[in-house]
Amino acid sequence: MNQILRSGLIGLAATALLTVGACSGSSEAKGDEEPQFVEDMHDFMNEEVDTLADEIWERQGWVLTAKGETKLFPTDDAGWQAVVDAADEMMAVSEELASEKYSLGEADWVTYSEGLGVAAQQVKDAALVRDEQAVFDAGGLMYQVCLSCHERFRTYGGYEAE
Ligand code: HEC
Repeated sequence: MNQILRSGLIGLAATALLTVGACSGSSEAKGDEEPQFVEDMHDFMNEEVDTLADEIWERQGWVLTAKGETKLFPTDDAGWQAVVDAADEMMAVSEELASEKYSLGEADWVTYSEGLGVAAQQVKDAALVRDEQAVFDAGGLMYQVCLSCHERFRTYGGYEAE
């Protein structure tokens, strides 16, 4: 897990990264050839993991335009609470992801899932004290975990689900 946590910080607005992540996530429909495990992963990723990540990433970062800088961080209690809540849920989801149902007993998978939980905890801690830079850094770390697991495991059908 340390390797994941030591990954470099991301120097771009998280929303931009999110767009990249979301786009690279789409795959062509493969008809009905996909095994049930892959179907389950699609649903879990789209409905749980990606949705929660959006809740977090939409509320962090800076947007630079010719007119200057705009912040995406929350400006009221409800906004910060939304980040805390999403991070809480992401921690729960990461535990589910680490479970046998999704890990299929693969040790690296469990490590990445736990890394997701660690990053979500950091997001939560930072959001509780409303530390914008720390929220941003933790959100970047979370993105690195998504990316690492996708690089390792996401083969669309090449993954042996037995
Ligand atoms: C423990 C491993 C793991 C982690 C961590 C992980 N993913 Fe995934 N994700 C996968 C796998 C495997 C697939 C591909 C499933 C498949 O074969 O279609 C996937 C697919 C996706 C997809 C595409 C779903 C589709 O319909 O094609 C999205 C979007 C996604 N992940 C978002 C995220 C985000 C956002 C994060 C981090 C907050 C994340 N994932 C973290 C394993 C992971």
